[in-house]
Amino acid sequence: MLIAQITDLHIRAKGALAYSGRIDTGARLTQAIDYLNAFEPRPDLVLATGDLIDLGTAAEYAHLRELLSRLTLPCYLIPGNHDHREHLRAAFADHAYLPRQGFLHYTIEDRPVRLIGLDTHDPGKVGGLMCEARTAWLDARLAEQPKRPTVIFMHHPVHETGIVGMDRVRCEGAERMGAVVRRYDNIERVLCGHLHRTTQVRWCGTISASVPATAPEVVLAIDGMGPFGWRDSPPHIGIHLWRDGVGLISHVATVTDATPYPFAY
Ligand SMILES: [Fe+2]
Repeated sequence: MLIAQITDLHIRAKGALAYSGRIDTGARLTQAIDYLNAFEPRPDLVLATGDLIDLGTAAEYAHLRELLSRLTLPCYLIPGNHDHREHLRAAFADHAYLPRQGFLHYTIEDRPVRLIGLDTHDPGKVGGLMCEARTAWLDARLAEQPKRPTVIFMHHPVHETGIVGMDRVRCEGAERMGAVVRRYDNIERVLCGHLHRTTQVRWCGTISASVPATAPEVVLAIDGMGPFGWRDSPPHIGIHLWRDGVGLISHVATVTDATPYPFAY
């Protein structure tokens, strides 16, 4: 099984640029989509882990929908802090896995690896939240199939990064969620976005990992050293390969059209 991940798309309304009028996030998403459409072997599905749009408007979701129509793989959406839960739900009403009301949580059951999507959106906040209700929902889902390989995907990281500005806006309630996750030994990964960088850390008996954005990256400013901000970088995607007997093998790929050359042995 091959799971593709795109995150932090930050799509603006058609014709508008993001990042202070500097970045065409739609063009970057299109580059990532073309890369995934051509990827061999063909991914089973794509997880889009939040910050799908930039300002939360219906016009941005309309543009996102138009851009995603180019993707020839099944795509599953969850919200980030930039998203708007009801505008997302309305724009993608035909995405049958999305609940008709409440949090945009769901499970994907028909694959070798079970996938659990979590909605950490906390309206008006940059950080995310796993409140008691959301954590109870996760616990109930995990209890249903405690032996099946499972991946949790969500926007906000449960882990620290050392990037002070991002650690201030990670997932509140991570300790509460961690107390649940720690009770299960079948969780292969907790996948997230939000950081616009690659990170991975051991967390509550599993691995918590972020994939970089299709939008520009966050500067690697550890412990407040260097500017806290963004810088232009190529779009990125994640590829998570499930192998029986091995587990989940995670890759990050830079999306470019650079020519590949064979090694000369
Ligand atoms: Fe983001």
